[in-house]
Amino acid sequence: MKTVYIGLLGCGNIGSGVTKLLAEMRAEWRENYQVDPVVKAILVRDLSKQRPEYVDTSLLTDDKDRVLMDPEIRYVVECLGGEHPSADWMCEALRAGKHVVTANKMALALHWRELHDASESGRASLYFEAAVGGAMPIIKILHDSLQANRIDRLTAIINGTTNYLLTRMTEEGLDYQDVLKDAQALGLAEPDPTADVEGEDAMYKLSILSSLAFHRHLPVTDIEREGMTHITQDDIRNAEELGYRIKLLAHATNTAEGMDAYVSPMLVPAHHPLASVQGAFNAVFLHGHACGDMMIYGRGAGSAPTAGAMMSDLINAILQTADDRAPQASARENEAPAVMLKDRVSAFYIRLSAQDTTGVLAQVAASLSERQIGVKALLQPVERATEGAQITILTHPASEKNVRAAIAAFDKRAVRVMNVLRVEASDL
Ligand SMILES: NC(=O)c1ccc[n+]([C@@H]2O[C@H](COP(=O)([O-])OP(=O)(O)OC[C@H]3O[C@@H](n4cnc5c(N)ncnc54)[C@H](OP(=O)(O)O)[C@@H]3O)[C@@H](O)[C@H]2O)c1
Repeated sequence: MKTVYIGLLGCGNIGSGVTKLLAEMRAEWRENYQVDPVVKAILVRDLSKQRPEYVDTSLLTDDKDRVLMDPEIRYVVECLGGEHPSADWMCEALRAGKHVVTANKMALALHWRELHDASESGRASLYFEAAVGGAMPIIKILHDSLQANRIDRLTAIINGTTNYLLTRMTEEGLDYQDVLKDAQALGLAEPDPTADVEGEDAMYKLSILSSLAFHRHLPVTDIEREGMTHITQDDIRNAEELGYRIKLLAHATNTAEGMDAYVSPMLVPAHHPLASVQGAFNAVFLHGHACGDMMIYGRGAGSAPTAGAMMSDLINAILQTADDRAPQASARENEAPAVMLKDRVSAFYIRLSAQDTTGVLAQVAASLSERQIGVKALLQPVERATEGAQITILTHPASEKNVRAAIAAFDKRAVRVMNVLRVEASDL
């Protein structure tokens, strides 16, 4: 039996979930792996805070060195969150030769190279399955199961909160603000929901996924980002009539011409597997030249699913020997910076409120056709018109620059642009 000492940084939702699961699994790990996992110290900020009954409060400390400087602790589970001091303390642990397991997408995305350099210098491994997709083993699949593939495209629902909000808006006809209040009361949205609804959380996760999938680091600064707060019932109903659902997607492609990455609300065809991902679930849909299309689906957050993914990383870290240290993602990366595409091709949904006079639609159509933008569908739901005539246009795939230029050229005295959304148009 090998006794291993573990230090926890943080004991909030996830940290306490890790202590619970470790206690539950201890007997099984002893029997199945001949490993006895012992938590030696748990770092928190506030020692006086009430903790769940399954947390052994005698292990709590507010001194980080009780975890980082203890030579007996070989495994550090980081559950602090945020950029600093998490990134610094993870680097410190790695440089000291401690293996680190983290769920922290923000620190990881913003300090990708630094963390991987620290892991090289300490010959220690960094595990981060829980940072993207909670219980869904997408990191391991990208890292260890798809090496025979050149992945050229991934599209993902990787923020459970926004998918929950959009699902309820779609299913129940509710407005964003009402669903948000409900989600906050249920603990499914943060009191300050900005990071989720403005797409920041998905952006960090997309940076991590793309860096692994494309073997080239994709910094968050190369990811275009748009949130979902401007989606209204008009957009949801229009999308439905046109045969689509609206989802907040994280999308990245890697072609010979360059990479492209963005987070934005998009219309997804109702028959696309991502359209059926409901509530707080997550899914990653990807394409590899050998595997073709593939979708991984599962619970993207929550204490138990996330703690479970961290526990699985932890046992992998414990079972690795010094010689078979987990290959680090950065070791497989092309170090040249990503070349980003200057333009992209996408179909678009354009919702307009137009003056009910002759010639308005003709001017809109002319502006589009002058820039080689074909119209695939036109919708004018008279009964829902609130001000002027509501016109919704679905374009064929076209240069995004051209579409934005055409919209900018619409006659502003006659037309108000209410919303413009990309349309997921992969051939399925
Ligand atoms: N919640 C989820 O469903 C979920 C899902 C996937 C990934 N994650 C990731 O998991 C990580 C943890 O999230 P969480 O929801 O568990 O956060 P949380 O509930 O806010 O817990 C954070 C913990 O870290 C401690 N802490 C924070 N800053 C500290 C500092 N400077 N010094 C000492 N202790 C400090 C806090 O101490 P006190 O308790 O004393 O305040 C608390 O115990 C984040 O990176 C998050 O993105 C969360």
